Amino acid sequence: MSLNLKTDIRAAADIIRSGGLVAMPTETVYGLAADATDDSAVARIFEAKGRPQFNPLIIHVSGPDMAKRYVNISPLAEKLAAHFWPGPLTLVLPRRPDSDLSLLVSAGLDTVAVRMPNHAIAQALIAAVDRPLAAPSANRSGTISPTRPEHVRQSLGACIDMIIDGGPCLIGVESTIVKVDGEMSVLLRPGGIARDEIEGVLGAPLSSRDNSGHPEAPGMLKSHYAPCASLRLNAASPDADEAFLGFGATAHIHPYTLNLSESGDLREAAANLFAHLRRLDEICREENLAGIAAAPIPGLGLGEAINDRLERASTRELK
Ligand code: TXA
Ligand code: MG
Repeated sequence: MSLNLKTDIRAAADIIRSGGLVAMPTETVYGLAADATDDSAVARIFEAKGRPQFNPLIIHVSGPDMAKRYVNISPLAEKLAAHFWPGPLTLVLPRRPDSDLSLLVSAGLDTVAVRMPNHAIAQALIAAVDRPLAAPSANRSGTISPTRPEHVRQSLGACIDMIIDGGPCLIGVESTIVKVDGEMSVLLRPGGIARDEIEGVLGAPLSSRDNSGHPEAPGMLKSHYAPCASLRLNAASPDADEAFLGFGATAHIHPYTLNLSESGDLREAAANLFAHLRRLDEICREENLAGIAAAPIPGLGLGEAINDRLERASTRELK
C-alpha cells in the first residue's frame, strides 16, 4: 500500500472516530461509512443518502471475532463465514442484547446485517478505527450504486467528509444477503456470491424470501420493540395517562417525557428515535400508562424518515 494511501486511511479513521462520513471502496460497491456505534454519525448517513425510510444498514467488520462482539453466530453462520469471508456475503444474525451498536443501524430490528469486505482499503480502515463501520452503498437513495470514486463524488460529494480513491470496484454488485435463523437460511438479496455456491456449502437449498413464510421486511419495527399500548401521532400535548415523545421546545412539564431534540434538530432526533421509543415503551409498562403520544415532526429532510417510522409504529397491522 502506498504511503499516500496509508496517510488517507489515517485521516479517514480520524474523521470516522469524530463522527464523520467517509466513502470507502469495497470489492462490491463504494460504501458510505460511519462509526456503527455512534447514533448521530449513523443518522448522518441517512441524511446524506436522502433515504425516505430508515432501512437497516450493513456493518462491516474485521472478521468473525469482531462480529461476535455484536451478533450471535450459530454454527451454520460460522460455517458460511469461514467459507465466504472476506467476501460479498452479508449475514443477517441475531443482535446481541449487550451490543453497543447504534439502534438506528438495524432500524430497531433484533437482527444485524454483518459482512467482512474483501478489500485491503476497507479492511485497513476498519482496523484503524477499531470499530465496526456501518455502510450502505454510497449513492443517493433511489439511484444506482457507485463502483468508482467519481460516481460517489457526483452523487454525494457535497455532503460527505472524504472519499478514499480505490479505483473501480472489482465485483460491482452488492453483496448477497442471507439471513441465518437457527438451522434455516433465507436468501434476502441476491448479490456478489451466487445462490448455488452458498447452497453447495450449506448442503441444502436456501429458502427464498417469498416462500419462507415469514418475509423479513427490512426497516419494519418489530412488535417487541414497537410501543406497548398505542402510539398517538401529532399530539400537541400528552394526556395524563400517556408518556410523551417530544420534539423542539416543550412548554409544559410532563413527568414521562423524552425529547427527540429540544433544539428541533432533525439529525439529533433521528439519532435518538429508536432509543427513546424503546425507553418510553419500558416506562409505559413500568408505570402502567395507556400509551405514547408523539409530538408532530416536520416532514423535511430526515423528518420524512422519522415520520415513516412513527407511522409504522402506530399502525398495529404493520407491527
Ligand atoms: O455490497 C454491499 O452489501 C454494499 C457494500 C457497501 O458493503 N452495501 C450495501 O448496503 O449494499 P445497502 O444499505 O445499500 O443495502 C443493505 C441491505 C438493505 O436492503 C437492507 O434492507 C438489508 O441490507 N438489511 C440490513 N440489515 C438487515 C436486517 N437486519 N434484516 C434484513 N435486511 C437487512
Ligand atoms: Mg444500496
